[in-house]
Amino acid sequence: MKNILITGGTGFIGSHTCLNFLEEDLNITIIDSLKNSSRNVLKGIKKILELSNKYDENKINFYEGDIRNTDFLRKVFLQAKNKGNPIDGVIHFAGLKAVGESVLNPIIYWDVNVNGSINLFKIMEENNCKTILFSSSATVYGNSQKIPFNESASIKPFNTYGFTKAAVENILNNMFDSDSLKWRIGILRYFNPIGSHPSGLIGENPNHKPENIFPYICQVASGLREKLYIFGNDWPTPDGTCYRDYIHVVDLAEVHKIALKYLFARDSANLTLNVGKGKPYSVLELVNTFERVNSLKIEHEFSFRRDGDIATSYADTSKMYNLLKWKPSKSLEDMCKDGWNWQNNLVSIKD
Ligand SMILES: NC(=O)c1ccc[n+]([C@@H]2O[C@H](COP(=O)([O-])OP(=O)(O)OC[C@H]3O[C@@H](n4cnc5c(N)ncnc54)[C@H](O)[C@@H]3O)[C@@H](O)[C@H]2O)c1
Repeated sequence: MKNILITGGTGFIGSHTCLNFLEEDLNITIIDSLKNSSRNVLKGIKKILELSNKYDENKINFYEGDIRNTDFLRKVFLQAKNKGNPIDGVIHFAGLKAVGESVLNPIIYWDVNVNGSINLFKIMEENNCKTILFSSSATVYGNSQKIPFNESASIKPFNTYGFTKAAVENILNNMFDSDSLKWRIGILRYFNPIGSHPSGLIGENPNHKPENIFPYICQVASGLREKLYIFGNDWPTPDGTCYRDYIHVVDLAEVHKIALKYLFARDSANLTLNVGKGKPYSVLELVNTFERVNSLKIEHEFSFRRDGDIATSYADTSKMYNLLKWKPSKSLEDMCKDGWNWQNNLVSIKD
């Protein structure tokens, strides 16, 4: 791996992946529009690397820009080539991810998530760059019936965000089918990434009201929100709340490096993998664990079920284990402790 382009590299998962690659002494080029992140993320990454004497400014290039801008993308690829360090693989995180917002603003979601991706694939093709990992989501399974979800389960998204992820998966599969020797494609379907780097120097910092439970819990813990609303306690589950598959973001970052190495070791590939722990926890278990490991209370109240939620969602991760010989190592306790450490640090930075 010479130089990996990471789109959305200052976002939540992207920043942890950038750090992981830099810790391995790999070169990265980051593109981000900063729509849902900020340049401060780069400072956090730098600080962590400096603490272990691993910071090398020559290993990291940052370009602020939008993946929908073809000229911008072309320029980034060209500059890398001119510097003698052409981009030979891409991890594509950039996109919009709020389900509720996607339903209200479908055009912008299709534009960013799908048109932006097509743009990127076009420029990759122009530059003979054939290796890509794409951030997909468990959302593509929708209400597919068989739990745990296996990669061959039917794809039945039921919201705009899920439709856009499924569309990009289709595009990538069509690209592979058109010329299977030309592409090395990895589609990673993430379950629920939470937590943050244990240093508390990078983490999730949404610029809008969080739709996901974990950042919401963190904001309640820090006093930014009054209480957590748990959507339903009458689900057909042991404690009546929804069961989800949570994975520590540091584990998730690691799997990108392993999956990319897997792709680079092959002439061509088309891989779709679930990435989760493969073990579901209830919302109440998550809240109780957060309270216990951080010695605090999360005010919460049960409210009505939310449209589109399902009782239980978790990954069959056997394909990931078998192909990559890897499994996530961090516990739910680690996720809760590290996530709170970051949120707590954020609040003190603001103070
Ligand atoms: N976090 C999750 O729960 C989750 C679950 C499944 C899949 N995913 C997918 O993983 C990817 C990363 O998610 P995340 O949680 O890090 O989100 P994030 O919002 O923190 O990161 C996405 C980054 O993309 C950037 N971006 C947005 N639009 C852009 C554009 N047009 N051009 C360039 N940059 C743009 C944002 O500024 C942000 O830094 C997304 O594609 C998301 O759909 C996330």
